[in-house]
Amino acid sequence: MCGIVGYIGKGNAQEIILDGLEKLEYRGYDSAGIAIINKSGLKTRKKVGRLSNLANDLKGDPINGDVGIGHTRWATHGAPSDVNSHPHTNMSGSIAVVHNGIIENYRSIKEELVGLGYSFKSETDTEVVAHLIDYYYSGDLLEAVFKAEDRLKGAYALAVIAKDNPDEIVAIRHESPLILGIGEGEYFVASDIPAILKYTNKMVYLENKDTIRLTRNGYKVYGPDRMEVKRDINTIMWDVEAASKEGFEHFMLKEIYQQPKAIDETLFRRLDDDGNIYLENIKITKEDLNNIDRIYIVGCGTAYHAGLIGRYLFQTFLKVNTITDIASEFRYNEHYIDERTLVVVVSQSGETLDTLTALKDAREKGARILSITNVVGSSVSRESNDVFYTWAGPEIAVASTKAYTTQLVAFYMLALHFGRLKGTLEDECYDEILEELKGLSQKVQLTLESVNESSKEVANKIKDNHSLFYLGRGLDYNTALEGALKLKEISYIHTEAFPAGELKHGTIALIEEGTPVIAIATQQGLYDKMVSNIKEVKARGAFVIGVTRHRNRDLEQVCDYTIFIEESFNIFMPLLSVIFPQLLSYHTSLIKGNDVDKPRNLAKSVTVE
Ligand code: AGP
Repeated sequence: MCGIVGYIGKGNAQEIILDGLEKLEYRGYDSAGIAIINKSGLKTRKKVGRLSNLANDLKGDPINGDVGIGHTRWATHGAPSDVNSHPHTNMSGSIAVVHNGIIENYRSIKEELVGLGYSFKSETDTEVVAHLIDYYYSGDLLEAVFKAEDRLKGAYALAVIAKDNPDEIVAIRHESPLILGIGEGEYFVASDIPAILKYTNKMVYLENKDTIRLTRNGYKVYGPDRMEVKRDINTIMWDVEAASKEGFEHFMLKEIYQQPKAIDETLFRRLDDDGNIYLENIKITKEDLNNIDRIYIVGCGTAYHAGLIGRYLFQTFLKVNTITDIASEFRYNEHYIDERTLVVVVSQSGETLDTLTALKDAREKGARILSITNVVGSSVSRESNDVFYTWAGPEIAVASTKAYTTQLVAFYMLALHFGRLKGTLEDECYDEILEELKGLSQKVQLTLESVNESSKEVANKIKDNHSLFYLGRGLDYNTALEGALKLKEISYIHTEAFPAGELKHGTIALIEEGTPVIAIATQQGLYDKMVSNIKEVKARGAFVIGVTRHRNRDLEQVCDYTIFIEESFNIFMPLLSVIFPQLLSYHTSLIKGNDVDKPRNLAKSVTVE
């Protein structure tokens, strides 16, 4: 997810665009750039890193002008660098493009353009668009953009300016969001409301496949059939802060509700034309897999919990001994690591020092490193042999949610792909499981809708407790661990997760009248044992919240509160059962008046040991 801004009018384009990009940094902050047209032509400036790097550069050497475009990047193709930053231009620098989304067929177009004599500077998909517009350009920028759009496949929002068309901006909304802002004799285009709300609250939400042409005197909108259309003008009543959360009160809640989309983004962009998994960045072959006799999965916190699910999947589908370890402990534990070892490193930020240190330790011992991370070009990704990027978009809230569920999707896809490649997973099993995986985002959406109110009610019941227990067996225990971490890190209630079968070996001594216990009971085959464990704690006075499948209506007779979630295969239930713990921790933190997005003592990325 990236942020784009365009401006044309009588104001200072650089100032307005930089201000807009700052409001869009939550969409990505790997690099930023700006292109402005003035009397001396089209000027472009771009810098890797936070927007402040670009702003400081421009402070000393500003670009004057009143028409321009800008971009803040969340890298997907091409690591963060000056040259990979947007705007991208044609070879003469007379056309500049900023882009949010992914051009799926950029490779074939790039090959065609190279054959026509075009030379490329960057590794990005976006640069293809600049040269393609150049190829079709013969003075009419709108026409050239239309012709280029006819060749592009993927999800994208574009804004384009040209030196020889100094009085216009052309922009397209094609799946990725784009908004038109209408000022007094000035016009804006942006990925999201916050970028331009300071200058106008009159906005047009462009519809999919709309194209706009902005000039100093007005704008025109062209529908998917390229005919001029009228679109409603909306008056926005939000303030800027609220807008960047897209109407949600906190980034955490927004990111919880982004999970269905994040899951689909991570999954569907890695399916080939036959609907099978296609992992272009993963170069592990059948021979490599046959040579791997041990797998370690390493991470911290939530990333570690995702690894616990991954461990089960690799053991089951790959038939390889898989050990999961906490990154900060990994280097102290005697591990048998050599060239036959695969180490899977999980890290949303890709900058967690404990995880990075574990990675380097394993690599020095000869292991092959596969990382799962959400940040292109992060330290973890740069130190790995293979990288599986989750495409969850920036995760701003300290409490990790959409990163976790997309890490699970990564493990499902890797286990399916490797199992079939190695021949330890039958094709029909592969097909059946992948088919179910493709429908999971809808089940996550249904679960979000069905458990939100219950999570508020339970939050009100537990908010004053000083301790709480999560219980589960098998994969449900892993979900219990993740639920406990979520609750303690933002509600500050001391929460522990225990294997339900372990209670009788000591912990049950802590259960007394009113002790809240959340029992995750979704695993078929373990349900009856879980019911027994729930009865054990109930007998000692616990207040029990059960989380189970719709079919297990009988659990209502046993628990004080029962949360029913959508049904799926056992292996997919962690993706569904984690929704309630996420929402519960959010609402509990909110009720307690905590800083939900920035809880005390914590940072989003822990870059110290
Ligand atoms: C999760 O909610 C926590 N914020 C924390 O445990 C986090 O998962 C951990 O610090 C690892 O971060 P990473 O995924 O960026 O490496």
